[in-house]
Amino acid sequence: MDQVDWKPIRSAQYPLHQQIYEYLKQKILNGEWTVGVKIPPLRILAEQLNVNRSTVVAALEELAADGFIDSRVGYGTFVANNTWSTISSGAAPDWKTYVDSGVHKSNQSIIQEINRSEFRADMIRLGTGELAPEFLPRKKMKGIFQQKTAQELSLSYTEPKGSYSLRAAICDYLKRKGIEASPSSVLIVSGGLQALQLISLGLLQKGSVVFHESPSYVTSVNVFQSAGMNLLGVPMGDKGMKTELLPKLRRQHHASLLYTIPTFHNPTGHTMPVLKREELLQTCSHERLPILEDDVYGDLWFEEPPPQPLKANDRQGLVLYMGSISKTLGPGLRIGWLVGPEQVIDRLADIKMQTDYGSSTLSQYAVAQWLQSGLYDEHIFHLREKLKFRRDTAIRILEKYYSGIATWNNPAGGFYIWLKLYEAVSMDKLFKRALKAGILINPGNIYDYKDSSHIRISYSYAEPAQLEKGLKRLAEIIGEMSRR
Ligand SMILES: Cc1ncc(COP(=O)(O)O)c(C=O)c1O
Repeated sequence: MDQVDWKPIRSAQYPLHQQIYEYLKQKILNGEWTVGVKIPPLRILAEQLNVNRSTVVAALEELAADGFIDSRVGYGTFVANNTWSTISSGAAPDWKTYVDSGVHKSNQSIIQEINRSEFRADMIRLGTGELAPEFLPRKKMKGIFQQKTAQELSLSYTEPKGSYSLRAAICDYLKRKGIEASPSSVLIVSGGLQALQLISLGLLQKGSVVFHESPSYVTSVNVFQSAGMNLLGVPMGDKGMKTELLPKLRRQHHASLLYTIPTFHNPTGHTMPVLKREELLQTCSHERLPILEDDVYGDLWFEEPPPQPLKANDRQGLVLYMGSISKTLGPGLRIGWLVGPEQVIDRLADIKMQTDYGSSTLSQYAVAQWLQSGLYDEHIFHLREKLKFRRDTAIRILEKYYSGIATWNNPAGGFYIWLKLYEAVSMDKLFKRALKAGILINPGNIYDYKDSSHIRISYSYAEPAQLEKGLKRLAEIIGEMSRR
């Protein structure tokens, strides 16, 4: 409700304020903005409609004169009336109460702003955890669909765990990482995020605690919290999560799961060394604490392959392992996988059937083709080169503009550099100032709400020239904020 995705036409015969009046009136008359809804503040409306405030004021005055809206001093402007609710016998439902009492939590407001601003063409996206469109193999994808005749393409539902040929292809692919799995222990999901959601709904008790590295990607989505679990961040040292803290934390909390991103961690870019992996497996085995291993970046190494996933050394069925093609082939395909003990996979497949009847059949077909044909390996080979070049470029730019204000890691793969500012700043203010300057960043407090000195820089999206322009300007903004 704080977003207006329309703009008046400047060349039209109608005056701008008249067009805005008509637009807002239609929103109210159509029931899109129901009685009681707060309309966006004047400043925001003027910005989004790309007009002067006085133009918006003229339109609002007219709406108020017609009785559609009403202003309450200190509270804002609200929809007061619409013809539909006046002529219908009952009042319109109080949607605000429904919205406020829905089970799923809202995104953090910064994340909502990021999700909106990522679609603005004028933004330099320094934080986006996504491959640049030019890195996505669109031509080859087209070719894959052209190989099949229309009769051969299935548009039907797939079986509960997902297409068998895709699951078999994933098992072959995982074998090369040292993971032994058969198709019956693999569930195809609509991206890794859905695996988290299914686990939260199908395996965990309300009130239980999920341990994770702090900072972590998992705090940027409210999947576990919305299902009634609490998150507890375990601090990270030089070698990753401080596993020595786990037994004590386990005694203090009703922990049900440990979520970890051991390879090219989001947001720090860190990779857990072999010894730490062994230690983590041993500790969790001793504590009988299941592990959810998130390996969505594992294929994106630059100089040498990372250590084997935890799952490769799990003989007890302690580890649930998730992967996805979002960071390699295309997030729009919405395909990921979860590997684990069969009783877990059966349970989650049953919930998935109740939730969405399976992931897109066309996407599953395409991913199976990529994996089986060898095209995936070929693509990844070139992608690593391109990403490595972007990483090196980002590091060079940081050396040029950030030597006096921050330190950073040099990631061995994945998308992210975890920039640590020497001086703490208000993350919210920094985010807003950068946004105003046309730069979109992912501030550290998304990944650890107490954080006031980190920024997650992603080199996977912005082109080198944009990366330089954005990082240079961001350094100036940080400098201005620290001098105050
Ligand atoms: C660590 C990690 N896990 C899971 C996901 C979810 O990705 P998807 O649902 O697109 O597979 C992301 C996306 O940013 C991520 O960074």
